[in-house]
Amino acid sequence: MAKYRRHMFVCTNQREPGSARPSCNADGTSQLHAQLKQAVDAAGLKGTVRVNKAGCLDQCEHGPNVVVYPEAVWYGHVSTADVAEIVASHLVAGRPVERLALPDACIHTEACEHRPAKT
Ligand code: FES
Repeated sequence: MAKYRRHMFVCTNQREPGSARPSCNADGTSQLHAQLKQAVDAAGLKGTVRVNKAGCLDQCEHGPNVVVYPEAVWYGHVSTADVAEIVASHLVAGRPVERLALPDACIHTEACEHRPAKT
């Protein structure tokens, strides 16, 4: 089997109500992973693009989150309404969806203004 050209990780983490941080699949009903997978297959990308469920990606305050490699494009606040655009623009045409991309200053940095303050 050939290597995948792209790998997409979809956070499906669910935390208990009242947790200190939010979660991307707060009520456990998210269809985001399933719809992305279906759209990738429908676009003829099965075997080229892999869509995996992921645990927490540590970007919880921006969720629901999706990251696409090898470009390392992090998408935040993704909904099922964004699925068609992500697949057509990024995965088919190679143009990341800028309106959903998280700024570099928010990815794995303490400087992100959305993170809870460390105590
Ligand atoms: S719960 Fe999704 S990134 Fe943390």
